[in-house]
Amino acid sequence: MATGIDRGVSAQWPYPRLVAHRCGGTLAPENTLAGFDACVRYGYRMVEFDAKLSADNQLFLLHDDTLDRTTNGRGPAAAHTWQQLAALDAGAWRGAQFAGTRLPTLAEAAERCARDGIAANIEIKPCPGRDAITGTLVANGALSLWQGQTPPLLSSFSFEALAAARDAAPSLPRGMLFEEVPADWLRIVRELECVSLHASHRYLNERLVAQIHAAGLRVLVYTVNDPARAQLLAQWGVDMICTDRIDLLAHDMLSGQ
Ligand code: G3P
Ligand code: MG
Repeated sequence: MATGIDRGVSAQWPYPRLVAHRCGGTLAPENTLAGFDACVRYGYRMVEFDAKLSADNQLFLLHDDTLDRTTNGRGPAAAHTWQQLAALDAGAWRGAQFAGTRLPTLAEAAERCARDGIAANIEIKPCPGRDAITGTLVANGALSLWQGQTPPLLSSFSFEALAAARDAAPSLPRGMLFEEVPADWLRIVRELECVSLHASHRYLNERLVAQIHAAGLRVLVYTVNDPARAQLLAQWGVDMICTDRIDLLAHDMLSGQ
């Protein structure tokens, strides 16, 4: 069983095997503090969430470039100030019981991580054209906001954002995000000095997991909601599984950890 212990990188990897996608998966409105409540309820010790910038450079949590799907706002998030964004309802779309839930700042997420003893994978999700500044400000924010906590793992689909994060806060661990792992993945992760590679589980295979491990990196897969699939990925030695179904996937059903 490939657990990573033999690869000499475990000291840089203080994270559990399971991570809740967008804070609480599908059990709460995504990328809100309500997700932390769901994590605590199901014994999850790590969350993934998406961080971006408002028009006036406040760091906050939101997945999409636009507000329409997950809030009662309209249009591009980057066109709104934090004062405008803070007034939006980010919970009612998921159910009446979540009405009034607000978009959280990165600082509020850091406070909840500290309060609940939860580690974070901060996905840098820049609005269009704002890659470098988002990478820089997320990394600087993470460095100061998570002082005294398990260092947050920074990740991004954006090479430019992750390069800026590397330059701003080289000590924070980084993982490059891919959907399908490209042929030149090793060059990319080396340039960004990543500790992990994050990929959709759909295109991954056991051989590729072994190759990534052999290069000294950890492997995160998203988004795995089927327990049997999670068990297979764990058998392959995948280090972290990002899931929407924190009610279905439990640490004790996975091997190797
Ligand atoms: O970081 C894993 C996953 O969150 C990447 O996809 O679109 O859900 O942010 P997405
Ligand atoms: Mg994400």
